[in-house]
Amino acid sequence: MHIAMIGCGYVGLVSGACFADFGHSVTCVDSDPQRIDALLGGRVPIFEPGLAELVARNVEAGRLAFTTALAPAVGEADAVFIAVGTPSRRGDGFADISHVFAAAREIASALRGFTVVVTKSTVPVGTSDEVERIIRATNPAADVVVASNPEFLREGAAIGDFKRPDRIVIGTTDERAREVMSEVYRPLFLNTSPLLFASRRAAELIKYAANAFLAMKITFINEIADLCEKVGADVQDVARGIGADNRIGSKFLHAGPGFGGSCFPKDTLALVKTAQDHDAPLRLIEATVAVNDQRKRAMARRIITAAGGSVRGKAIAVLGLTFKPNTDDVREAPSLAIIRGLLDAGAEVRVHDPEGMDQARALLPEVVFCKNPYEAARGASALAIVTEWDQFRALGLPRLKGLMAQPVLVDLRNIYSARDVVRHGFRYVGIGRGDDDDLPAARLRRARRPEMPAPVALDGVGRDHVLDRRRA
Ligand code: UGA
Repeated sequence: MHIAMIGCGYVGLVSGACFADFGHSVTCVDSDPQRIDALLGGRVPIFEPGLAELVARNVEAGRLAFTTALAPAVGEADAVFIAVGTPSRRGDGFADISHVFAAAREIASALRGFTVVVTKSTVPVGTSDEVERIIRATNPAADVVVASNPEFLREGAAIGDFKRPDRIVIGTTDERAREVMSEVYRPLFLNTSPLLFASRRAAELIKYAANAFLAMKITFINEIADLCEKVGADVQDVARGIGADNRIGSKFLHAGPGFGGSCFPKDTLALVKTAQDHDAPLRLIEATVAVNDQRKRAMARRIITAAGGSVRGKAIAVLGLTFKPNTDDVREAPSLAIIRGLLDAGAEVRVHDPEGMDQARALLPEVVFCKNPYEAARGASALAIVTEWDQFRALGLPRLKGLMAQPVLVDLRNIYSARDVVRHGFRYVGIGRGDDDDLPAARLRRARRPEMPAPVALDGVGRDHVLDRRRA
């Protein structure tokens, strides 16, 4: 199969390199000559584990090429994927799909022979209909079918997600297009990844509904975490308990500082807007967006309280800038709202991130960028872990304690055992760890409320007992 991938951003590069690795002949096209020059020179301009090696291997094997010339690539392709960016439009949050339409216009005049044009970028329902209209208006003689094939790649795990997907969604009812798309994905199909065919509009909606559901699931457990703190329960126990129910599932139940990234915030907003436009408001998703925004800001207050109530003139260390580990992406990252809150409260913010510092520098000119966690902790009145990078999971607590102005660890990803941290002389604040976070203070609270007996043990039995008593 000959494939043209229009757009060498995140989705285009990962998908193009993976298709080439399946044995297809792939040409990746981008209008940015600098980006193409970098790729031709062997430099992959985005951070994704394993991608540089995958690109190099397939270029070497002659299956993957890069160019700014769209027409020849499209002319010889059986399938042309549109994988250009769809940023949030300023003002209304709606996805900006002007790049998709511009690509459709250019593709239209370059089509030769039967071709399937596939929208892979995340696009609002009805966009593929408009892509088809544009192509037919520009080139009425073209033998073309427009299909939708949304991607479900997670940054940092994109290659694994592409090669071992839970499902592949293809939106087309055209028989010839089904054949081409089945051939494109045949290597995965043989590996029993289900190929789900649906209408184009259903496929487009599947992508938004999937992201909105996951964002809602995270927000649900985050609110349950807040409740855990009030009633004296551990959110990780609750997540385990509900996640073991197959109907709920254990994934995406990690409570934290709120979701970020280039997808969930943008896609939830766009879906809310689409739903409002069609007079079918999605109130659950509207609430998800609002709760998540507030949550990011509330995390700054949590750190300030842990540091003693005022951070004016004090240093605060923040570990983790990216919206999650294994990426250099800081878009909509909780760290940005948290740091802004700390700066507004008068703190000197000292940060470290293994990969995200270059991207963050332009957005955070007022913070001190440090080369490792220990340098960030120097003189700090609290150290907050905002992203769960592996590098932060086993910090030398005695060394940190020796460097900090006061030993306070705010673990917004629950990657430490509260008991361990407290044993090292720290004050510990986690997320939704009502039964053991900030141990001495929690004990004090319980002592002041004799009607609420303290849990007798940290295992499930003691806590169930306490909760049962309260319910009664
Ligand atoms: C997300 C989806 O997971 C992908 O399936 C989808 O293809 C992609 O968006 C997209 O639309 O392109 P991604 O944004 O890369 O992928 O990252 P996730 O791993 O989903 O994490 C998103 C945010 O949720 C992060 O800030 C993460 O820290 C947070 N999160 C995730 C939690 O707070 N708790 C969890 O249990 C899981």
